[in-house]
Amino acid sequence: MTLRELHDKARQSLDPAHYDYVAGGADEERVVAANEAAFDRYALLPRVLSGAERRDTAVDLPGAPRASPVFVAPTAFHRLLHPDGERATARAAAAEGAVLVTGTAATTAVAEVVAAAREAAPDPAVWFQLYPHPRPEVTEALVRRAEGARCTALVVTVDSPVFGRHTRDLRNGFTDLPPGYAAENMRDLPGAPPGGLTDIPMSPAVTWRDFAGITRMTSLPVLVKGVLHPADARLAVEHGAAGVLVSNHGGRQCDAVPAAVDCLPAVAGAVADRVPVLLDGGVRRGGDIAVALALGARAVGVGRPVAWGLAAEGEAGVRRVLATLRDAYDHTLALCGGRRNADLTTDMVVRKDGTW
Ligand code: FNR
Repeated sequence: MTLRELHDKARQSLDPAHYDYVAGGADEERVVAANEAAFDRYALLPRVLSGAERRDTAVDLPGAPRASPVFVAPTAFHRLLHPDGERATARAAAAEGAVLVTGTAATTAVAEVVAAAREAAPDPAVWFQLYPHPRPEVTEALVRRAEGARCTALVVTVDSPVFGRHTRDLRNGFTDLPPGYAAENMRDLPGAPPGGLTDIPMSPAVTWRDFAGITRMTSLPVLVKGVLHPADARLAVEHGAAGVLVSNHGGRQCDAVPAAVDCLPAVAGAVADRVPVLLDGGVRRGGDIAVALALGARAVGVGRPVAWGLAAEGEAGVRRVLATLRDAYDHTLALCGGRRNADLTTDMVVRKDGTW
């Protein structure tokens, strides 16, 4: 089954409001469309006769040595998509050697997510995503939960000073979780209400000082997610980020930003190999992964494709998505004459409009 077919099957099986929650974005959803469309403007210039018979696509990431170049981006509320929810996603990611970024907004507590990943692999890499809270004690409680669960890195999402305006959710009246579901990691935090859709902490008051505070709270590597401007990429490194994830939140926050991949070259230039650069947003094919890696990403995340796989076929569906993308990337690497990811270089990417 192709990723498109998994999407179609997921759409048929899901409550339409839950389908819209995943598929939709902010305002007019221009950025949702732009993320995918942007990849159509890039093409690859293969190298030939390079002897790329044996290939190695594994990547070294913070807290994840030799991981798949495709990781699971954090998406909320997996139990709305499948009864096994985040546990199924965790087992699938671990079995495929992919980093799973589980989030504050998960409907399964982080300790249970990591335990499920351990059922599939002895040493899985599960990272914990959190929003920086203006009250450090709330952030610290989340950090301790992630550490206690044996997550191997933290991901701080910084593109959400306020909640994006999700047009479809407003139209559908999907403004809170159905009874029986909660953002489990938010339970019993000091001074924070548990754990509905609107209780996820987002605050325009937080600054780079708060981010640096998080890096001092923990010995875990702390990545920053949601950087588009190269100046912010530099600030991230200066404030202790262990990695910079170029992302526009899958088009769910500001509906006037560029496609994520279009921001990648400038961010990679600003970071200048001091820490790994990652990308998510609109990655749907092996060729998309090759373009992103050639433009400076160490690895790419997928959000919606994993959600569709989970909704369509549970754990097996998520495995299929991750394996399909990894294998398609390996195939593209072979076609481009590469043996390692580093063999894909910026000179092998052209813009179809001739401006690159
Ligand atoms: C997200 N994303 C997200 N990001 C984050 O940092 N915390 C979160 O809780 C969520 N929740 C969430 C829910 C849903 C339903 C979606 C689709 C996305 C954004 C996510 O991590 C990632 O940036 C995008 O999904 C990447 O784009 P694609 O792969 O969906 O195109």
